[in-house]
Amino acid sequence: MEIIPQEGKTLGAAVHGFNYASASEADIKKLKEAIYTQKIAVLKGQDLSPEQFLELGKRLGRPETYYEPMYQHPEVEEIFVSSNVPKDGKQIGVPKTGKFWHADYMFMPDPFGITLIYPQVIPQKNRGTYFIDMGKAYEALPENLKKAAAGTQCKHSVRKYFKIRPHDVYRPISEIIEEVETKTPPVVQPTTFTHPMTGETVLYLSEGFTVDIQDAEGKPLETDLLHELFEATGQLDETFTHPNIHLQSFEKGDLLVWDNRSLIHRALHTSAPEPTVSFRVTVHDERKLFDGIAA
Ligand SMILES: [Fe+2]
Repeated sequence: MEIIPQEGKTLGAAVHGFNYASASEADIKKLKEAIYTQKIAVLKGQDLSPEQFLELGKRLGRPETYYEPMYQHPEVEEIFVSSNVPKDGKQIGVPKTGKFWHADYMFMPDPFGITLIYPQVIPQKNRGTYFIDMGKAYEALPENLKKAAAGTQCKHSVRKYFKIRPHDVYRPISEIIEEVETKTPPVVQPTTFTHPMTGETVLYLSEGFTVDIQDAEGKPLETDLLHELFEATGQLDETFTHPNIHLQSFEKGDLLVWDNRSLIHRALHTSAPEPTVSFRVTVHDERKLFDGIAA
């Protein structure tokens, strides 16, 4: 196994010769170090069945099955499927997922540390995923924003991007909203936390899932702080040229593994969508999202 930093990029490493079945414990440790320090590891030359992909994920941690069944792979429920390609005339998984800045499961009480994406059908033109390293983004904040964020908390919810399911058709929208708020009530986390693996300070908020910012007592802040933090970190840049934004491309056989504590990401979709399918496995590693999390 060989780990090489991505040329000309501020983050990411390419991993050659990784075989999940024969990798030693030392290899796994080395791979995880690369994930935590370089944030994205691209495992090259992978050719795996869905079952094997899950087995690979299990070498890195305990899989978390997505809570909404419509996203699950029909044979391997731990796999989340993003797809706009019907299989035998049937929709599998969900099309156009994640087209907004977010960290996976940010709206849940116990988010996992590692996300694995294994692209299956790769678009010709617009391929890739946008990333922002929220540790580096925090470092780059002007002092006044760092100071304003200190000691605050953020509220995260799935409500803005919850996707209507087939069985929601003909249901009143108020009933669906009520169900979402009951099943996945908003969670409150500190605006920054210490990354348990690296010691970095991570700014934990995203335009997709963070709905409010409040003081330590839970009182909403009467400022534009949340908007300013979205702006300063690059999340409102619709041209995707902000220096914090990294576009990670991939080719057939690549399997992306990333640090879901530090990175927020956003899918690249075009208005005229090309066929695209990807599988996702998410795993809890040895530590919680951060030490002392309420979950
Ligand atoms: Fe995601």
